[in-house]
Amino acid sequence: MSQLILPKAWQRPEKEITPENVFNNRRHFLKLMGFATAGIAGALVAPPAFAKGMEAKLTQWMIGDNQTTGLPPIANLKRNPDYTYRRAMTKENAALTYNNFYEFTAEKELVWRTIDAFKPRPWEIAIGGLVEKPGVYDVDDFLKSFNVEERVYRHRCVETWAMVVPWVGFPLSDLIQKVQPKNNAKYIKFTSFDDPAVAPGQKRYRDLPWPYTEGLTMAEAMNELAFISTGIYGHSLPNQHGAPIRLVTPWKYGFKSIKSIVKIEFTETRPATFWNTLIPKEYGFEANVNPDVPHPRWSQRREKMIGTGDVFATVKYNGYGDFVAELYE
Ligand code: MTE
Repeated sequence: MSQLILPKAWQRPEKEITPENVFNNRRHFLKLMGFATAGIAGALVAPPAFAKGMEAKLTQWMIGDNQTTGLPPIANLKRNPDYTYRRAMTKENAALTYNNFYEFTAEKELVWRTIDAFKPRPWEIAIGGLVEKPGVYDVDDFLKSFNVEERVYRHRCVETWAMVVPWVGFPLSDLIQKVQPKNNAKYIKFTSFDDPAVAPGQKRYRDLPWPYTEGLTMAEAMNELAFISTGIYGHSLPNQHGAPIRLVTPWKYGFKSIKSIVKIEFTETRPATFWNTLIPKEYGFEANVNPDVPHPRWSQRREKMIGTGDVFATVKYNGYGDFVAELYE
């Protein structure tokens, strides 16, 4: 049997060797994510965001009561009462100013301050792969054929913070039915934009596996909870929440809910995804919320609500077991 032997760095051609600044940027990013300091002693402690003692203070200071999006309200919007959440809704100011959007920055409290150069219009969305009706559409033309509603969902990040958010949008299954996947389509892959000219995080951490990608099985994608969001808090999505169109899968950790989608593809094999490619031991493909499965470096038993600081016990499937548990039996 042949054995794969990797050439030593000095034997490899120049172009294959990671330039020092790129290596340092990747290291800086991973350090920000809490990797460089994590070891056995760091296992099962708070995730990076909580480990920073400053976090609560910083968030309070950053959330100005007068932070608004200025986006006009969506007319005749109806809330779908089928989705209950049994917790206080997160205030818009809190949700607007505490985000994960690594294309811009790894600092959650600063995303909203770095997104002005990003323009979500004009925007094209490509539908492709194993599908009867592929195409490239202007996002507004494409969205005209879907009826939007409001759904209040729990939103649980793998880092143990949580929110309760009123999304505006339509079931992903409506989109799937419109584009008609072929019989051999088993997965759906979502791809976000890649534009370091407007996204400082993509420029700084250029060696990360951009563009951000995510995926679902077709059964998950057809579940009634899987939602394509085009708005939040009664208006269209502001940049920091993933304008103009994003995914929302409330029974999974938030990193599955990919923002600012430019491409949707139907595939036969499981697609590679951003976090799973970067750190496969920590971020699985399935990523269902589960208090019994700790993250390798922290417990998932509890969660902290952004805005109020209330702490709750984490619930399997984020409380949506009635909708999705049968998918995994
Ligand atoms: N989508 C893209 N394109 N880039 C990202 O960095 N972060 C994910 C997800 N979608 C992310 C993304 C993570 S880790 C979370 S928790 C949620 O977005 C956060 O969504 P919110 O900022 O709207 O609350």
